[in-house]
Amino acid sequence: MPLLIAGSIATDHLMSFPGRFSDSLVVDQLDKLSVSFLVEDLEVRRGGCAANICFGLGNLGLRPVLVGAVGEDFAEYRSWLQRHNVDCDSVHVSQTRHTARFVCTNDSSHAQIASFYAGAMSEAREIELQPIVDRVGEPDYVLIGPDDPEGMLRHTDECRQRGYKFVADPSQQLAFGDGKMIRPLIDGAEILFSNEYEADLITQKTGWSREDILSRVGTWVVTLGAAGVRIDREGEESITVEAVPEIEKVEPTGVGDAFRAGFLAALGWGLSLERAAQVGCLLAVYVVEQVGTQEYVLSRADFLERCTSTYGAEASADIDPHLKTLHP
Ligand SMILES: Nc1ncnc2c1ncn2[C@@H]1O[C@H](COP(=O)(O)OP(=O)(O)OP(=O)(O)O)[C@@H](O)[C@H]1O
Ligand SMILES: [Mg+2]
Repeated sequence: MPLLIAGSIATDHLMSFPGRFSDSLVVDQLDKLSVSFLVEDLEVRRGGCAANICFGLGNLGLRPVLVGAVGEDFAEYRSWLQRHNVDCDSVHVSQTRHTARFVCTNDSSHAQIASFYAGAMSEAREIELQPIVDRVGEPDYVLIGPDDPEGMLRHTDECRQRGYKFVADPSQQLAFGDGKMIRPLIDGAEILFSNEYEADLITQKTGWSREDILSRVGTWVVTLGAAGVRIDREGEESITVEAVPEIEKVEPTGVGDAFRAGFLAALGWGLSLERAAQVGCLLAVYVVEQVGTQEYVLSRADFLERCTSTYGAEASADIDPHLKTLHP
């Protein structure tokens, strides 16, 4: 059964300036500020939470359906995702705006000047899920990740109305939203994903206790960074799963998204919550070891080997029959 993954689709444009910004700023002239920095390199990275999660699912042999809004400039990114098994046929293309873009320049002292252009993302509110479901079939889950807030609310409402099981993954948007916005995003979710910090934000902003939340969602998955993950369900003991030891810690951006992809893939294979968390942690560690969120190359043999060495032969034996990576 299909997985619909709704959320942001974006690119990051990262530049580095070899000097220091502060040397070019004249403090008493800041009201006439106009500066230009000659930067050394430009790195364009593919990102956006929904696109990252779809990339992970595609790498594990699934065919996720990407739901989000982009601009005409999406063509190259679309073919990259399609080559990684992602169904992009329901992506909404804006007539007027560019794909969301994060533009950031760092200097030699790690000072940063950055801007985020939401662009086409604000048209996510125009997307209706039903025509997508008519095309691909009743979904296993609809994941609603960080996106245009109006769009997130609309998708969640539509899931509740039409009875689609949904996964709440509001992450970054928790910082901006208030309780009134956050409560409807998680109420009735089959699965709620957050990290530990976001878990506190959720209880603080909604005014709901941990128990209240567990009575409103089926399963709450809380990722704990290098300490792994904890899974909570109402009236049951927590399940904890340790992370996979990294070979080299390069850059953690995107680990949360990869974890979600692995977790949902394993649930789709009919595996237990514990196995799902293990597959999530396994995929996440590949992202820790790379610069960028969609740069890892997954090999089946390596994945199973790391599974055996961290979680044991039985875990590998359960995962092995389902795993169809893009590379041997
Ligand atoms: N240093 C690490 N080594 C191994 N695995 C890690 C490490 N950091 C994170 N992970 C894996 O990634 C999962 C998600 O990590 P984390 O809780 O940091 O997500 P996050 O805060 O949502 O991250 P982000 O939003 O930056 O993607 C963890 O449950 C763990 O399996
Ligand atoms: Mg996160």
